[in-house]
Amino acid sequence: MSLPRLGDYEYFSRMLIRSRSYTISVENKDLKSLNDWLKKHRASSTVILCDNNTKRNCLPMLTALSPGLSDAPVIEIPAGEAGKNPDTATAIWEQLLSHRCDRDSLLINLGGGMVSDIGGFCASVFKRGIGFIHLPTSLLAMADASVGGKTGIDLGSTRNVIGTFAEPRAVFVFTPFLKTLPEEHYRSGLAEIYKIGLVAGKSLWSELKKMKNRQDDASLIAKSIALKVKVVEKDPLDKGYRKILNFGHSAGHALESIYLEEGKELLHGMAVAAGMIMETNVAWQLKLIDRATMAEISGTLHSRLSPPVLRHIPASLLARYLLHDKKNSGGKLMFALIDGIGSCRHEVEVDESNMSRAMDYYNSLFK
Ligand SMILES: NC(=O)c1ccc[n+]([C@@H]2O[C@H](COP(=O)([O-])OP(=O)(O)OC[C@H]3O[C@@H](n4cnc5c(N)ncnc54)[C@H](O)[C@@H]3O)[C@@H](O)[C@H]2O)c1
Repeated sequence: MSLPRLGDYEYFSRMLIRSRSYTISVENKDLKSLNDWLKKHRASSTVILCDNNTKRNCLPMLTALSPGLSDAPVIEIPAGEAGKNPDTATAIWEQLLSHRCDRDSLLINLGGGMVSDIGGFCASVFKRGIGFIHLPTSLLAMADASVGGKTGIDLGSTRNVIGTFAEPRAVFVFTPFLKTLPEEHYRSGLAEIYKIGLVAGKSLWSELKKMKNRQDDASLIAKSIALKVKVVEKDPLDKGYRKILNFGHSAGHALESIYLEEGKELLHGMAVAAGMIMETNVAWQLKLIDRATMAEISGTLHSRLSPPVLRHIPASLLARYLLHDKKNSGGKLMFALIDGIGSCRHEVEVDESNMSRAMDYYNSLFK
């Protein structure tokens, strides 16, 4: 697979990225790829899953550009991470049953990463698995969550702990959906694009550093997807190399869980942005990067993404949540840590004192 070239989008409104088993199309003018695909892959029935925001903002655009879907039943779930839980999953399964879905039905996940995660999960186990496609509507879902075959839901305050590896039949990224995406969710998605640059795409990182304003940029999204596909294809089941995608996520998931427990929501990308800064500091403590690289990364992430102030969270609480993380083994904290821009190691052992210093470093950026 070759990475899309800068500028491709000035000439083409449609780009295809082929992963081993499905096609990801990135479009900015129409939904031709989706319409062609639906004609070719006839399902016994098609159901659209969305949340209340994507139903209001994106469904009308979808049915206008893909009129064949205007009669499809719609399952609506509440927007937000708090709904990515077993109760919502049960409600989805009940509605799939009431719409008489069978093994040849198709579920279309129209939404951000919350909808693609729970929709993919529900489809992957309903009647032992029905087909699903993703129509991501947030930057985070376009650039990251809809690619890679991880699905899942949260259990209590533990994030993504119930899930499957299940690949969508196809992914259709349509950038005009982003027009209604609120700014904070845009920045949250951008965090995952910065992450892929840091772990596997030095030139993407350089490009991002130059970026000044919000750009609903198909070429940026396509580059991010292509880099992710390249990583995932080397290790689809997350046994080794793919873990580099977890950079920033060990601390990030712990922060999300702490917020969720407190009944507050911290956007995934914002948690990852904070996590990346802390873990960059840990990489420096472990001599994987020099001070100048740490300053470049944390300065860029801090100024571009405006991560949250976290002074109220004690390092000991963070450490407690870090131990719940799926990425650990044998009670040890195992992190993915960068050892340069565009390069990352996985399964680096970290201890609580590293995290405590990283938390101090993070807080010092807000003085
Ligand atoms: N499976 C994976 O590989 C993977 C990777 C990264 C993140 N994730 C998951 O993704 C989720 C975060 O994704 P997210 O940030 O997209 O969250 P989200 O799905 O909750 O969307 C964010 C908000 O934006 C709204 N929204 C989405 N698209 C919109 C649009 N076009 N116009 C107006 N509003 C819109 C949603 O209704 C929601 O309120 C987390 O649950 C995270 O665990 C999964």
